[in-house]
Amino acid sequence: MRRSRPAGLYIHVPFCARRCSYCAFVTSTDLDQRGRTVAALAAEIARVAGRGGRELETVYLGGGTPSLLPPHELAAVLDAVRRGFVVRPGAEVTLEANPDDVGEATVAGWARLGVNRVSLGVQSFDDGVLELLNRRHGAADARAAARRVQAAGLQLSIDLMLALPRLHRAALDETLAETVALRPDHVSVYLLETDKPHRLGELAGRRPDLFPDADAAADQYLATGRALRAAGYRHYEISNFALPGRQARHNTRYWLGQTVLAVGVAAHGQAGRRRWANLEPLPAWLEAVEAGRTARAWSRRLAADEAAREAAMVRLRLARGAPLALIERCAGLAPAFAGRLAEFEQLGLACRRRGRLRLTPRGWLLSNELLATLW
Ligand SMILES: C[S@@+](CC[C@H](N)C(=O)[O-])C[C@H]1O[C@@H](n2cnc3c(N)ncnc32)[C@H](O)[C@@H]1O
Ligand code: SF4
Repeated sequence: MRRSRPAGLYIHVPFCARRCSYCAFVTSTDLDQRGRTVAALAAEIARVAGRGGRELETVYLGGGTPSLLPPHELAAVLDAVRRGFVVRPGAEVTLEANPDDVGEATVAGWARLGVNRVSLGVQSFDDGVLELLNRRHGAADARAAARRVQAAGLQLSIDLMLALPRLHRAALDETLAETVALRPDHVSVYLLETDKPHRLGELAGRRPDLFPDADAAADQYLATGRALRAAGYRHYEISNFALPGRQARHNTRYWLGQTVLAVGVAAHGQAGRRRWANLEPLPAWLEAVEAGRTARAWSRRLAADEAAREAAMVRLRLARGAPLALIERCAGLAPAFAGRLAEFEQLGLACRRRGRLRLTPRGWLLSNELLATLW
């Protein structure tokens, strides 16, 4: 019998205490559905595990706000994972947390359940910005939460957001100084996306003057890169920085096209050339799982040219870029796409080095637009 390769597992926990003003993730503030959802997650994990025994290299509890789960519910989910899979020794087990859920005893409980990495949604260390984002926490809570995670010996990743209204240069510099002082293992930096259905997106439509323009947003991104690199972080992916050896292993699986299984409402998975997504909204997913039916909304196999294009695009998000053999495969399978990449090279937005094609710093700055034009 052929043994399956080790996989990653994404588990979507679709609840939040309240909705942040910039967020369009599939998440609900109806916490009454939590117990039912945890039972359905355990059932879906068993179903996805099949006969069992597959090894996992990463487990990622994302959301939503997994840190809202009380210990017995988190234990129920992780027990289901261990019943259905073999979590490899040394596997990365990440939990996304909102700073005001991170009490000392809570973190110790997470560690006992096998969580070894916490991704903390800090967003900013400026109280005015946090208020505008409708976050539940202030800067002091974020600082305390980060220290508790570190004191418990878990790896710490911090999420920051840029291009926000009220995020003036002084507030950004302060946020960066505080981040560096905490010395998290990993930092993710996101430019506010305003094209999604959320309150800040709606505000950006009406009052663009309140938001930094493209040049100011680019300045914030470059200043963030300079500050983090000067503090010893490697800018290894467009939105991600890590101390040496601390790159996010789960996310890296997506960028390298490795298998990621997925459970929960609207969760997306990938294996080889197959891509799939689960049902949404929450009632549709719950009903399917409870009835013992598949929770998949769709599943399809990428055509060879699509797979080559996708592989090149996700690898171009990485500092090390895409191997030239892959670019050559694109030239054969998707000549128009390869032609666009050649134009990027001519414009100085991409370059070849040591057998790989990578985006230049200017290319990275334009990456969203660039990668969008490649589709
Ligand atoms: C699933 S959420 C984080 C987990 C946790 N619920 C929290 O907010 O603390 C992942 C991250 O995506 C980022 N994010 C959410 N909405 C965004 C948007 N509209 N534009 C850019 N980044 C966004 C935020 O930095 C957020 O921490
Ligand atoms: S940013 Fe996090 S806490 Fe806020 S609504 Fe989105 S998922 Fe929930």
